[in-house]
Amino acid sequence: MSSTSRRALVAACILAAGKGTRMRSRLVKVLHPFLGRAMVVHLVDAAFRSGVDRVVTVVGHQGDDVKKAIETSFPGWSLGFAAQTEQRGTGHALQVALSALAGASEVLVLYGDTPLLQAKTLALLLTAHRESRHAMTIASFHANDPTGYGRIVRGADGKVLRIVEHADASPDERAIHEVNAGMCVIRGDVLEAALAALTPHNAQGELYLTDLVQQFAEAPAPPAAALAEAEATTNHGVGAFLLADPIEAQGVNTRAQLAELEETALKRMRLTWMDRGVSMQDPGSIRIESEVDIGEDTLLGPNVQLLGKTRVGLGCRIDAGALLDCCELGDFVHIKAYSVASHARLATGVEVGPFAHLRRGTELGERVKIGNFVETKQLRMGPHSKASHLSYLGDCDIGRNVNVGAGTITCNYDGIDKHRTVLEDGVFVGSDSQLVAPVRIGRNATIAAGTTVVRDVPEGALALTRSEQRTIEGYHERYRKPREEKKKAERDAARGGPVAATETTAIDRKEG
Ligand code: UD1
Ligand code: CA
Repeated sequence: MSSTSRRALVAACILAAGKGTRMRSRLVKVLHPFLGRAMVVHLVDAAFRSGVDRVVTVVGHQGDDVKKAIETSFPGWSLGFAAQTEQRGTGHALQVALSALAGASEVLVLYGDTPLLQAKTLALLLTAHRESRHAMTIASFHANDPTGYGRIVRGADGKVLRIVEHADASPDERAIHEVNAGMCVIRGDVLEAALAALTPHNAQGELYLTDLVQQFAEAPAPPAAALAEAEATTNHGVGAFLLADPIEAQGVNTRAQLAELEETALKRMRLTWMDRGVSMQDPGSIRIESEVDIGEDTLLGPNVQLLGKTRVGLGCRIDAGALLDCCELGDFVHIKAYSVASHARLATGVEVGPFAHLRRGTELGERVKIGNFVETKQLRMGPHSKASHLSYLGDCDIGRNVNVGAGTITCNYDGIDKHRTVLEDGVFVGSDSQLVAPVRIGRNATIAAGTTVVRDVPEGALALTRSEQRTIEGYHERYRKPREEKKKAERDAARGGPVAATETTAIDRKEG
């Protein structure tokens, strides 16, 4: 190790080259979404939050996509990637990553399919490793059913001797319930030599990372004087860190396991937000994804879904069945039942819904009101403006204090291109109007109800395209009533005379 850096470089190595055949998916397992983010991204996040300086991911199947998912989630962070084209075991995966891990004093090894792993657990594992001064520290837990796991074999003195994989274990070894959780920490300066000594002489013909345990356990202990030297190299000794909550080590192999672990994570998520001052009605029905942020005193109704990078301010109310995806809400926003919003920004005091649809690029100023059955897209709306009922507002710039009447439609698409509609401050749009874009309505202009606006309207003007109303007096007496009476007489004649109401029903039924 270089003597210039007393602050050691800690790296994590995430093994994520496998395909995940049992998912039965065209998408590689580690890219399956878990609480809104690819599974592997949770691992990278947990690793960085546990204090590691660099994260190296071993990729194989769909490696370019895995790399891209990680790079876009962690721009500017120290990332490394190693390609493992053939999956020849967990030990082989680490060999492939060696050059990307160069200079690391400690390597934290993680598997890409354990999305419940918590940063604080990893931090404890790293601390336990440092304090023990062992060459390697593995994480273990007691499994009710240890099938499939590597078993931890300990000596009479309790020292960890080796890990035996399920496929290679004798009946006695299979009876051991202490198992290898998967994650471990290895001293960086002894890693390369130890990996070089691995052989594939086992049931699966693979290079097992877990075989390092026996190597380190059997290596002679250095003299005490050398150990006292803080940076002495030693390949001796293996510690086991017992996980407080084994669920964290649970891997995803099938879609059923993915759903089960996600439900566990959701429970954790709901409790976290309730602790931080968020109220929930029927919490079990609420979905909050991992990148969501919610302010105190916000109330979430049943079946609310907060997805992606959604940010909700203080004291908001999100009513039953509302879905918000990547939205930003200021304080005291009220989203009424069954509204859907995606990539929208809502300032303080905005009211939306029920049954509103805010699409990408919707930006609503303070105290804007969007009512039921209103759809918006690329809409910028200034403070205190309203569209209370049944409208489509697309590609539209609306100023402040604008009233958009019921049934107003922006005709933003001419079949080829999209065009913008501009409504300046104080405009009043009467009900059932069409605004054929591109068009601009000047300040304080009024659009009469039922108008089809095709040309710009200057400031303060009234635009109306209705034809003049004609009113004909006595229409009912002179025209409608005689026609109705004639019709009735014809029907009666066809039936052979007038009939009583009850009989009519009987006849109608027979004829029908
Ligand atoms: C591994 C451990 C076992 C432990 C269990 C915990 C080994 C040999 N065994 O077994 O002791 O109890 O995890 O879940 O390590 N991978 C690669 N490249 C490879 C092989 C695997 O990247 O060549 C990745 C996989 O994509 C996966 C992880 O490493 O994310 C674990 O591999 P897997 O084959 O599932 O190991 P297990 O048999 O479960
Ligand atoms: Ca596994």
